[in-house]
Amino acid sequence: DETVPFYGDHQAGIVTPQQNSLVFAAFDATDTATAESLQVTLARWAAAASLLTVGKPIGPVETRAGAPPADTGEAFDLGVYRLTVTVGFGASMFDDRFGLKGKLPAALQPLGQLAVDTSIDPSISGGDLCVQACAEDPQVAFHAVRNLARIGRGTVAIRWLQQGFGRASATSTSQVTPRNLMGFKDGTDNIKAEDPGVADAQVWVGDETDQSWMTGGSYLVTRKIRMHLEAWDSDDISDQERIFARHKDSGAPLSGGTEFTKLDFHKRGDTGATAIDRRSHVRLAHPDNNGGAQILRRGYNYTDGMDNRTGTLAAGLFFMAYQKNAHTQFARIQNSLAEDGLNEYITPISSSLFAVPPGLNQIGDWYGKEMF
Ligand code: HEM
Repeated sequence: DETVPFYGDHQAGIVTPQQNSLVFAAFDATDTATAESLQVTLARWAAAASLLTVGKPIGPVETRAGAPPADTGEAFDLGVYRLTVTVGFGASMFDDRFGLKGKLPAALQPLGQLAVDTSIDPSISGGDLCVQACAEDPQVAFHAVRNLARIGRGTVAIRWLQQGFGRASATSTSQVTPRNLMGFKDGTDNIKAEDPGVADAQVWVGDETDQSWMTGGSYLVTRKIRMHLEAWDSDDISDQERIFARHKDSGAPLSGGTEFTKLDFHKRGDTGATAIDRRSHVRLAHPDNNGGAQILRRGYNYTDGMDNRTGTLAAGLFFMAYQKNAHTQFARIQNSLAEDGLNEYITPISSSLFAVPPGLNQIGDWYGKEMF
C-alpha cells in the first residue's frame, strides 16, 4: 500500500517505516503574524496534509483565470509514495506574541550547549515551527513542504531547509538496515514499530507531561552532523570497526554473531581486552550505559555539495530522534557520547528541539487545536 494513514492517535512519520527521502523545513512566524493567523495557517496545513498524503493536489488545478493555481503542480503525475507530513512546534513560539506563554511544556526547554557543541550555527537551528515531509520520492516530499510554505506565506517563513537523500535508519523489522555515509549499517538496534510497548515507554508522551495537549505526541531532536569523510576514508578498517564495534559488511557486533545478535560487552578477545571497545559508539550509546534511555532514530544522509573553503565534501548525517523527553533521553545519550571515538570524524553544526503534538483524529482537527 502506497498510502500511510493520515489520521490517528499519533502523527504519521514517526514509527512509520522510514521512507527514502526527506525534506525538512523550520519556519519562523513573521512580524505581522497573530495568534489568529497562526491558527488559520495550522488549520490549512492540516487540511492540505490530509489531501497530499492521499496523493491529491491541495486545490483545483484550473482555478480562476488570472489567479495562480492552488497547487504548484510538480507532483500531479507522481504517486503518493508513502508521503507523511509531520508538524512540530519550537520553544520560541511560546511567547507573548501568540498568548502561548503558559503552554510551554517543561520538556521543550532548549537543550542548551552540549559537550560536543562547539560549532552550532544558529541560522540552521531552531525555529517556531517545523514540517517533516518523508516520501519514497524526493519530489513528492519537496512538493509537500513547498505548498505548506506557500499556504503560510505572510504568517510563517522558512528559516532553514534540509533535504535528506537516503534513510540512515530502520524503524521497522520489515526493513533492511540501510547504511550511513560512513558505510556502516545504521538502525540495527533502533526502536522498531513492531514493538509498541517500547514506543509507549520511550517515544510517546504520556500522563507525565505538564501540558496535556502534548499527550500522545513526541519530542523531536534534529542535529545536522557534518562528517569529515576524507579523513574517515583514510582510516583503516580495523579502526573504523573498533569505533562502531560492529563489522562493516555484516553489521554484526565484534563480540560475535550476526547483525541482530545482542551486544556482549563482557566478551574478551585474544588480547584479553573486551571485544567491544569501552569508548565505542554503540557501548556509550547503549541503554545499559544511559539508565535505560532509548530514542527512535530516523535520520537521513545529506550533502550540500562541496565545501569550497576546504575543497572537501559537505556531507553527513541529518540526525533525527523522537522520544518522550529529549532532556532525559537524547541529551543523556549525547553527553555519554562526549568520549566517543567517532567525534574525531564528525562535527554537529545544527541543533533543534521540537514538540510534535499528537495525531489528528478527523477532518476539522488541526495541529495545536487543543493548545491555543
Ligand atoms: C548506533 C552511526 C550519531 C545514538 C549506531 C550504529 C551506527 C551509528 C553505525 C550501529 C548500528 C545501530 O544499532 O543502529 C552513527 C553516526 C553518527 C551517529 C555515523 C553521526 C554521524 C548518533 C547520535 C546519537 C546516536 C548523535 C544520540 C545522541 C545511537 C544509539 C545507537 C546507535 C542509541 C544504538 C546503540 C545500541 O543500543 O546498540 N550509530 N551514529 N548516534 N547510535 Fe549512532
